[in-house]
Amino acid sequence: MAKPRHFLTLMDLDPTELNAVLNRAIELKTIQAKGESEELFKNKVLGMIFEKSSTRTRVSFEAGMAQMGGHALFLSPRDTQLGRGEPIEDSARVLSRMVDVVMIRTFEHENVERFAQYSKVPIINALTDDFHPCQLLADMQTFLEHRGPIAGRTVAWVGDGNNMCQSYINAAQQWDFELRIACPEGFEPRQDLLEGARDRVTVVRTPQEAVKDSDLVVTDTWASMGQEDEKNTRERAFDGYQVNTELMSHAHSDALVMHCLPAYRGKEISAELLDDPDSVIWEEAENRLHAQKALVEFLLNHSR
Ligand code: CP
Ligand code: NVA
Repeated sequence: MAKPRHFLTLMDLDPTELNAVLNRAIELKTIQAKGESEELFKNKVLGMIFEKSSTRTRVSFEAGMAQMGGHALFLSPRDTQLGRGEPIEDSARVLSRMVDVVMIRTFEHENVERFAQYSKVPIINALTDDFHPCQLLADMQTFLEHRGPIAGRTVAWVGDGNNMCQSYINAAQQWDFELRIACPEGFEPRQDLLEGARDRVTVVRTPQEAVKDSDLVVTDTWASMGQEDEKNTRERAFDGYQVNTELMSHAHSDALVMHCLPAYRGKEISAELLDDPDSVIWEEAENRLHAQKALVEFLLNHSR
């Protein structure tokens, strides 16, 4: 393999490439529904390194590889030498001689960068403390399917300035939409990311201000993986930041609500919104499957 293409953040693909992935995801979704999937990943192996828990990410990557005729390997640090302290650089060199693409979910974003630096095959960020770009592919696919192109629209982020929020900042730049972030003081996303996206992203202090006349309202858990000890203090800090029907009355009448899941019902999002028969949240989760198949195909095709 010449030079591998990686997907560590949304900024690794240009807007044209990102849209090509979304359109292909929609196409693969139709093909899958018709039962006409081809074995495009025959003999291809995806290594999946999980240092944090997962339901959607693991199942969507694993099922996606199987449906395309390939194979996925679940690698937990508990059972591999990574957990015993084998350096990331060495693991990257070895694994990338055996598999065709590697997906990593870890804590420090720097870990996926180091892995990519030493890998001969594409590396996919399946969530770090800083970014969750795979989820954004599914979210952007879902918006495109239901409302058309997101360029020029307004998106409200309500909640923690976490990895998802930071990937939304990247998305605002790549897909050219306005992003309004409402978070309590002290829970803002990284300053350098905000500064780099000043023309499209603003931080406001109330959820109502962010949501006013928006086309998409997004939230996520107030305590991300690794922050379990802060759950109670965070619940107090985020009091008043719940996405619910009342808050949605400030958005456009056809505004969508998204949540990457898992959700804490009645905390960052009301049960009523999750259970709304018109909710796109479950399809947003399903789209992880289609979007990641398109992503893996793109990375394999562009790394030759
Ligand atoms: N949204 C998401 O990444 O879910 P999992 O943590 O279940 O993979
Ligand atoms: N912000 C959440 C996303 C989970 C998919 C976390 O990092 O735990």
